[in-house]
Amino acid sequence: MVASTGSTEREGWSSRSAFILAAIGAAVGLGNVWRFPTLAGENGGGAFVLFYVGCVFLLGLPLVLAEIFIGRTGQDDAVGSIRKVAQRSGASGSWSGFGVIGVLAAFLILSFYSVVAGWVLYYVGVMGGDFLGAVFSGEPFRGALAGESREMIQGRMGNLFADPMLLLTMHLVFMGATLFIVARGIGSGIEAAATILMPMFFVLLVGITVYGAFVGEMGGAIAFLFTPDFGKLTPQAMNEALGQALFSLSLGVAGLITYGSYIKGPAPLGPTAVTIAIADTSVALIAGLMIFPIVLAVGLDPAAGPTLVFQTLPFAFQTMPGGALIGLLFFILILVAAITSSISLLEVPVAWGIGEMGWSRRTSSLVFGGGAFVIGVACLLGYNVWSDVRPLGFWPLFADTDILDTVDGFTGKVMLPLVAFFTAVFVGWKADRRLVEEMTGLSGFWLSVWRALIAWLCPLAVGVILVTGLFPQVL
Ligand code: PHE
Repeated sequence: MVASTGSTEREGWSSRSAFILAAIGAAVGLGNVWRFPTLAGENGGGAFVLFYVGCVFLLGLPLVLAEIFIGRTGQDDAVGSIRKVAQRSGASGSWSGFGVIGVLAAFLILSFYSVVAGWVLYYVGVMGGDFLGAVFSGEPFRGALAGESREMIQGRMGNLFADPMLLLTMHLVFMGATLFIVARGIGSGIEAAATILMPMFFVLLVGITVYGAFVGEMGGAIAFLFTPDFGKLTPQAMNEALGQALFSLSLGVAGLITYGSYIKGPAPLGPTAVTIAIADTSVALIAGLMIFPIVLAVGLDPAAGPTLVFQTLPFAFQTMPGGALIGLLFFILILVAAITSSISLLEVPVAWGIGEMGWSRRTSSLVFGGGAFVIGVACLLGYNVWSDVRPLGFWPLFADTDILDTVDGFTGKVMLPLVAFFTAVFVGWKADRRLVEEMTGLSGFWLSVWRALIAWLCPLAVGVILVTGLFPQVL
């Protein structure tokens, strides 16, 4: 462990590939395996997917590079790193203010992220119990939840939501695991977790997708995801795609600034950023190819919305050969994806506590993990005892939004685009050009392309998300 005062050397990744793995772990999460298929389904598939991929590479990728640049250069927590880059560029230290918003956003997202991951944990339990039952009854390869009616299977989610203690227990376990890993530090905590969990994730992802190709409707899924019908690309859908690209790449919460600050020694940041963006996007697309063949095979609706994964799929697994086993593996996969993301969310405020407040890693983990847990409890109570509470009810945009969706909506629609906007303006216009060149390792054509995107396109497009997100009536 490294001392809290900063007098001893700051922690760091053991290698460049360790950083890449951890950053992919942060990026790949509920956003890829739950939210992306949900949004693609709701927004009609093809055209949305195409627009999304465009957003990732034209806006997301330049921002990924910008965040890693700040962290790699600053070698400090998010706020400290921005301050240091500003100092070395002769800019005002008050630019670090957007880092504070990012740190706060990470903390708030963690609170509801852990609640949603708690639902996943519950389904791991349900499917685990079911699979054990299948094994003991001598039919390990039977479908999931044998003998249960569709109403029973789909009703599980409602029953879970109506039970605050159950929700709280799941949230507690997930947040506890997150806290435990982060408190162990970069090397033996976050890096170790990514090294074990990410390969496991990829094996599960490929395995279940291949399974789906055999037993499901892969052709239909491919047609659904990749045949663009631009009539379905409404301004709202474009807005969702832009916001989802930020969320999925973990942008706008200073997460990559924080992770980037643990890079020691020289690293070619361009290829690193490209690797992260390609990996994250591939996982989202493969997740679509994993889920939709199964959904379509059973004749279910791909536009089911947020309940797609929790209600539609368990029912689909009932009629599939080996569904009991595959269903269990499927929820384990989502859980694994979620925890490598939640640790990155917690690391952002924890690094801030260590760097700016001088706390020990342990104290900082307890403060922010505990704090996010408490806010998460409010979020989960919003499904039952506090179901009438509308935290931002005075604001027409959130007038009918429960606690969890308010925290989600406010961070996603306001805080992330705001931080992304300032990141782009700061790196595009304020950061010293030679410092940028030296630290990113970019030159020539690609440097010019990136400069143009980060200085012009990103602020403009992200500004549009911000305004249209806040004032949907302008669309
Ligand atoms: N990118 C993560 C996901 O797709 C969510 C996340 C956002 C994680 C911001 C860290 C920081 O689920």
